[in-house]
Amino acid sequence: MAKMEVKTSLLDNMIGVGDMVLLEPLNEETFIDNLKKRFDHSEIYTYIGSVVISVNPYRSLPIYSPEKVEDYRNRNFYELSPHIFALSDEAYRSLRDQDKDQCILITGESGAGKTEASKLVMSYVAAVCGKGAEVNQVKEQLLQSNPVLEAFGNAKTVRNDNSSRFGKYMDIEFDFKGDPLGGVISNYLLEKSRVVKQPRGERNFHVFYQLLSGASEELLSKLKLERDFSRYNYLSLDSAKVNGVDDAANFRTIRNAMQIVGFMDHEVKSVLEVVAAVLKLGNIEFKPESRVNGLDESKIKDKNELKEICELTGIDQSVLERAFSFRTVEAKQEKVSTTLNVAQAYYARDALAKNLYSRLFSWLVNRINESIKAQTKVRKKVMGVLDIYGFEIFEDNSFEQFIINYCNEKLQQIFIELTLKEEQEEYIREGIEWTHIDYFNNAIICDLIENNTNGILAMLDEECLRPGTVTDETFLEKLNQVCATHQHFESRMSKCSRFLNDTSLPHSCFRIQHYAGKVLYQVEGFVDKNNDLLYRDLSQAMWKAGHSLIKSLFPEGNPAKINLKRPPTAGSQFKASVATLMKNLQTKNPNYIRCIKPNDKKAAHIFSEALVCHQIRYLGLLENVRVRRAGYAFRQAYEPCLERYKMLCKQTWPHWKGPARSGVEVLFNELEIPVEEYSFGRSKIFIRNPRTLFKLEDLRKQRLEDLATLIQKIYRGWKCRTHFLLMKRSQIVIAAWYRRYAQQKRYQQIKSSALVIQSYIRGWKARKILRELKHQKRCKEAATTIAAYWRGTQVRREYRKFFRANAGKKIYEFTLQRIVQKYFLEMKNKMPSLSPIDKNWPSRPYLFLDSTHKELKRIFHLWRCKKYRDQFTDQQKLVYEEKLEASELFKDKKALYPSSVGQPFQGAYLEINKNPKYKKLKDAIEEKIIIAEVVNKINRANGKSTSRIFLLTNNNLLLADQKSGQIKSEVPLGDVTKVSMSSQNDGFFAVHLKEGSEAASKGDFLFSSDHLIEMATKLYRTTLSQTKQKLNIEISDEFLVQFRQDKVCVKFIQGNQKNGSVPMCKRKNNRLLEVAVP
Ligand SMILES: Nc1ncnc2c1ncn2[C@@H]1O[C@H](COP(=O)(O)OP(=O)(O)O)[C@@H](O)[C@H]1O
Ligand SMILES: [Mg+2]
Repeated sequence: MAKMEVKTSLLDNMIGVGDMVLLEPLNEETFIDNLKKRFDHSEIYTYIGSVVISVNPYRSLPIYSPEKVEDYRNRNFYELSPHIFALSDEAYRSLRDQDKDQCILITGESGAGKTEASKLVMSYVAAVCGKGAEVNQVKEQLLQSNPVLEAFGNAKTVRNDNSSRFGKYMDIEFDFKGDPLGGVISNYLLEKSRVVKQPRGERNFHVFYQLLSGASEELLSKLKLERDFSRYNYLSLDSAKVNGVDDAANFRTIRNAMQIVGFMDHEVKSVLEVVAAVLKLGNIEFKPESRVNGLDESKIKDKNELKEICELTGIDQSVLERAFSFRTVEAKQEKVSTTLNVAQAYYARDALAKNLYSRLFSWLVNRINESIKAQTKVRKKVMGVLDIYGFEIFEDNSFEQFIINYCNEKLQQIFIELTLKEEQEEYIREGIEWTHIDYFNNAIICDLIENNTNGILAMLDEECLRPGTVTDETFLEKLNQVCATHQHFESRMSKCSRFLNDTSLPHSCFRIQHYAGKVLYQVEGFVDKNNDLLYRDLSQAMWKAGHSLIKSLFPEGNPAKINLKRPPTAGSQFKASVATLMKNLQTKNPNYIRCIKPNDKKAAHIFSEALVCHQIRYLGLLENVRVRRAGYAFRQAYEPCLERYKMLCKQTWPHWKGPARSGVEVLFNELEIPVEEYSFGRSKIFIRNPRTLFKLEDLRKQRLEDLATLIQKIYRGWKCRTHFLLMKRSQIVIAAWYRRYAQQKRYQQIKSSALVIQSYIRGWKARKILRELKHQKRCKEAATTIAAYWRGTQVRREYRKFFRANAGKKIYEFTLQRIVQKYFLEMKNKMPSLSPIDKNWPSRPYLFLDSTHKELKRIFHLWRCKKYRDQFTDQQKLVYEEKLEASELFKDKKALYPSSVGQPFQGAYLEINKNPKYKKLKDAIEEKIIIAEVVNKINRANGKSTSRIFLLTNNNLLLADQKSGQIKSEVPLGDVTKVSMSSQNDGFFAVHLKEGSEAASKGDFLFSSDHLIEMATKLYRTTLSQTKQKLNIEISDEFLVQFRQDKVCVKFIQGNQKNGSVPMCKRKNNRLLEVAVP
């Protein structure tokens, strides 16, 4: 958040008002109400301008976390709600950046939270200043010096369980970068009376209780101590235990802290020995002893304790014993020893214890300073933190309270001076007119105390130094004389009669009206305490101690350095150191933290208005506000003012270009704020009345609401727009990526496809080549194989004969050849005759030659037939051709055929040429006669036969009368269609003529001849050669014959034997002609 530079202001979320300056109306009541309201809301810090009021919450609040430190770091003082961190930051930054030495003045009553505040300031500065190993060590040492000093210098009082019983001023030194270099601690007046006596309900310094509770048995016995508090007279018993405080644990803490700060082990041991010695001193008791001279003398009751102390401190026991019994006074070179009575012995004892302890405390501070002092000599910037005991009013107030209250008086003085001065300076710086305001100035009280001529401290010193008997009473008398007229001094004894009847003012007391209230001081002990006397015998005894630390604590005990001059009194010492402190503070830029105690019960959540009212009064806080508000209640640098209110005016919103001051001027004009209400300083605007500021704030609040709506609106728009643009951009990116991805994918696909195709092509090519090569290889192999086989064959062939395996076959073939040879030779001799009809044929000798034998027989037969045929003349050839023709036509068809085979075909059985009877016939025929024979012509009507000459020429068939030779019929061969005959052994045949032809008019011819086969054959051959047509020859035992118009059936039957071997022909009816064949 801090880094976002959100401009906030003290005015944001304010509870009551964060700055009392803004209180309206301003009076005591509203002031307290405001504090209470804020206190009730855990807002313990409130500003008066740049002063921080801190109300002790008496409980831990969650407002000091590291996050808070970060929040307040580098922020303007008025930017966040009031906080001690804001003041610390302001101081640190102005130290670092503006080179101004700072002091943080923390004031307030005891228990108001001063020490806590100082620690918070230191821890804040430690947290925000530079880092690094060296720096961290310095820081750690600075911070750890606190617990050590608190153990030795703090005690439980009725006001505060951890009340600082000393004043502390710590200068933290920084280099130019703001890194801590070291520090210097000054301590003021330890309340040493507490060592020997504590008021009721209070405790001695923490360290005694811590040592007894926390030390190991071993350590205790070394220190000759016992754990039981009640063993020690110096420890008050009624409040030895403090609620919520673990002394044992704190003992460990301080030992650890001492180690961090740089105490050596032997130093720690020495310190604890001194503490033990102080405790044990309290246990030394005295008893009176009457002496001869009648004076009382004191004697140590129990020397055991003394012995142990001496063992512990290395002091000669007799020396110490003597120091407790005698007092040596030196005057005018003379030493006078007087004995001490019991009371004096106790006084001496307590004085020793107090001195021992307070000197030890101073030594501790110096020792710490040695550790934490800056190592370099470079110029340092300084931040002083003053945590001094607060204003104290007890029942019995003594010298210590007087001193403490004086110191507070001085601080109040410087506060008044510095704040007023600062205010005035600011007005001058800013060029604003300064108006005077009345306020109570406590300078007069300071004067009463510290005035060199008649101040109370001066009177006291005078008394102490005065020869003769000096008592507290004489001192009071003196005061009564000198200060009686002072308006802040009150005493019963004073000449001024106004207190004569004041019973609240005892005679042995005087009262001072401090700025913070009236305080009644018991005069008893003032002189002693101021003298702070330690009998010389005791300091000398201490100096003689074997314990080097104790020895160094009492340098005045050295007899060589004997100094008769009285040491400065406690009062004057304190006055001087306070003066130095004041001078120191005046050179620095002051920052105030004013602590307020809300109740007397150390309780949270209780706000006692009366108590607070009292503190407010004496702290002069109201005056503080008034001074601050004199003229102008509120002021602010122009830049933050403009920044805060610029939204109230159009010209300045959202940006003012010119200087901030003119911006504020424009702004205030625009808002019509009355001119008298504000004033322009050089760098700041001064606002007279808080009301004006609140008006501005109200306006701002309203405006902010409007602006918030506007911002919301714009922001929402912006958010939507950016979201949309982002989505759009994202979409483009996604799309781009997706496209890229898709293209990549596609490319990969194409690539892999190309690869596949490539590989297929390459594969295919390779396979082709491979095939080719394989083929070539196979060819080569084949050629080789063939050659090998061929050679093998050749070789085998060449060598086969040499193989026994072939022998069998050879022998077999050879034997076969021999047998066949023999067969053929024998056959030659056994050949049958060459007659084709010879059926003889030698028998076969071997079964396996059966087919050969038959074939041979067939060949031989064919051959001898051929031989036989070759003997024939052409004439004979023709006869045989005819015979062959006849066999083809009739063999196995006609029973007559076999008887015809042996008859030679003569053709011209009838020699026409020679017989003159047939001269005429012969002449009529010009052509060659193929057949001339006499046949029986069967009469178609009755079956009776007539002889006729049957002539066949090349073209015609002629029938002529046997006797006359006269031609009876002539039929051209072309008209003959068919010849029919029976299958039997007869010579009948019918010649069928072509229907409608001239010769057919009488019908077909029916003949009977002895040479039927020859005649039918010749008729067939001649017709074939003349007409190129095969003559149809029908062989059947029943056929039809055309007789004139009728068709007659000729039927052959198996005839009787009556007519011998001549067939009988008989006409049975018109349709049937029966031929009986024997
Ligand atoms: N800011 C604080 N937050 C919580 N407790 C505080 C605060 N300041 C003081 N106290 C309480 O008040 C007690 C007294 O404070 P202290 O600083 O010792 O007072 P002083 O030094 O003024 O006498 C502390 O011990 C602590 O318990
Ligand atoms: Mg304190």
